[in-house]
Amino acid sequence: MVAATEQTKAPSHPALQMRGISKSFGPTRVLKNVDFELRAGEIHALMGENGAGKSTLMKIAAGLIDQYDGEIYVAGKQHRMASPRDATRAGIAMIQQELSLVPELAVDENIFLGQEKVRSLFIVDREQQVRAAGEVLRPLDFHGRIDQPIAKLRVGEQQLVEIAKALVAKARILIMDEPTSALSINESERLFQVIRTLAQEGVAIAYISHRMEEVVVLADTVTVLRDGQLIGSMPQERASRREIIRMMVGRELQEVFASGKSETATRKPVLEVHNLRLENPAPTVMRSMLVQNVSFTVGAGEVFGIAGLLGAGRTETLEVLFGLHPGTSGGDIWVDGKRIRLSNPVDAKAVGIALVTEDRKRDGLVLGAGIDRNAELAVLRTIAAFGLVSPNEELALANRTIGDLGIQASGPRQLAGTLSGGNQQKLVIGKWLLAKPRVLLLDEPTRGIDVGAKAEIYRLIGTLAEQGLAIVLVTSELPELTLLSDRILVLCEGRPTALLRREQFSHETILEYASPGGSVQPASGEMEVAR
Ligand SMILES: Nc1ncnc2c1ncn2[C@@H]1O[C@H](COP(=O)(O)OP(=O)(O)OP(=O)(O)O)[C@@H](O)[C@H]1O
Ligand SMILES: [Mg+2]
Repeated sequence: MVAATEQTKAPSHPALQMRGISKSFGPTRVLKNVDFELRAGEIHALMGENGAGKSTLMKIAAGLIDQYDGEIYVAGKQHRMASPRDATRAGIAMIQQELSLVPELAVDENIFLGQEKVRSLFIVDREQQVRAAGEVLRPLDFHGRIDQPIAKLRVGEQQLVEIAKALVAKARILIMDEPTSALSINESERLFQVIRTLAQEGVAIAYISHRMEEVVVLADTVTVLRDGQLIGSMPQERASRREIIRMMVGRELQEVFASGKSETATRKPVLEVHNLRLENPAPTVMRSMLVQNVSFTVGAGEVFGIAGLLGAGRTETLEVLFGLHPGTSGGDIWVDGKRIRLSNPVDAKAVGIALVTEDRKRDGLVLGAGIDRNAELAVLRTIAAFGLVSPNEELALANRTIGDLGIQASGPRQLAGTLSGGNQQKLVIGKWLLAKPRVLLLDEPTRGIDVGAKAEIYRLIGTLAEQGLAIVLVTSELPELTLLSDRILVLCEGRPTALLRREQFSHETILEYASPGGSVQPASGEMEVAR
């Protein structure tokens, strides 16, 4: 039985082997002689601090960076990856940190981009494409519409489309760069199932993530990079959380989940919200409103957390407060005691409301411009009223932003798009701070940020609170939420179910209130926050 022996025989060559890979951008060496080996059927986690070189290494394998030193072997055969096409031919697909789908094109058009199904010369057979796309997407538990543009899908669904695209290209090596950073817990679980199934089918998977919990449940092997160097590779069972962190940062690191928060004194109210609501654009019998009856007050210096599961209305609440849903939202909002009307984000900015969203690209980082230029754009509205920003001021601002936030860059002129993912996120926050807001709305502010840099963001949030800003924080990471918040409002299916004080914080309590049909019911009157 030839076939059986073939099957049981372990493949003699790794699916992917990278040897002595080095890479410099200008004078900066970002990869130094790195070896990396990936076996068929293996889920291999690649970890390291922001800027360690993870994305760069994997982009080289995917042919996205044409100049590099070193050798790449796929199933024992040497390849030069000079273009994405070379990588595709070698069976390598990469889902990048920032998704790379074409927003205007439909799901099927994205999946078959470059390999369209044609009816006759030049005529694309959409019907067949939609059908074929459905066959790939269905097992992935995709619920969106295949013939509609990508832009209309949630990030989680877009991720599934990226995977479908890789599957259609028959990738045997799948590289995923922080695939879950924008996903809810449920969506992540679903993605893990997909990844495990692919691995069982023999696909080799390289998986970049900052989330230790994921790596523990998912990975077979863990490799750690630091400052562009390979620190080590080991089976997951031998890699304790503590050991991984030590390898990442090069020293013992106290994780920053001890809090020094004191009880809230009476604070001057900065943001007051009464009866906020948002209609559901696609109403169902169960749910005509995405947000309703949401009332709260955030005082100067307070960090007000909002907890909830996917679809609880957390992001939507922040969006309404930023003037993003003028026609379909309602409720009363006061800032510093003044009643405000928001018909668009410009109104919101004018009264000092800033929103840091989970989407760096949409958030208006100009990726093709330097840190200095991005900093300048952020202050333009505030300063320009009094005159132009001089190049010197611009540079000073950029340097201050880099310094304040610990952005790792070669200098203020480095292009935003070439910063590592985590450092881009810091720049987004820094950019908003330059506009000196009164109310800071943070939506998943530490997404994609490594443990060390998270500590810096936490400190930053603390400092901003001390300066008297009112901060509203949405994060899916419960330890982060309970660490930073003074109070937490729990939402469930768009409605508030609890308002917790620090001594009431516990993960169990929050999840209980956040789950539909949870056994705990809010005490009546607790939700009405006095103005
Ligand atoms: N095109 C480029 N030009 C200049 N520098 C670059 C470019 N691409 C990456 N870098 C630099 O290379 C270093 C490694 O970046 P890389 O994106 O690989 O980090 P990473 O490990 O993926 O980090 P993160 O966890 O933040 O995503 C960073 O210092 C980054 O600023
Ligand atoms: Mg990266």
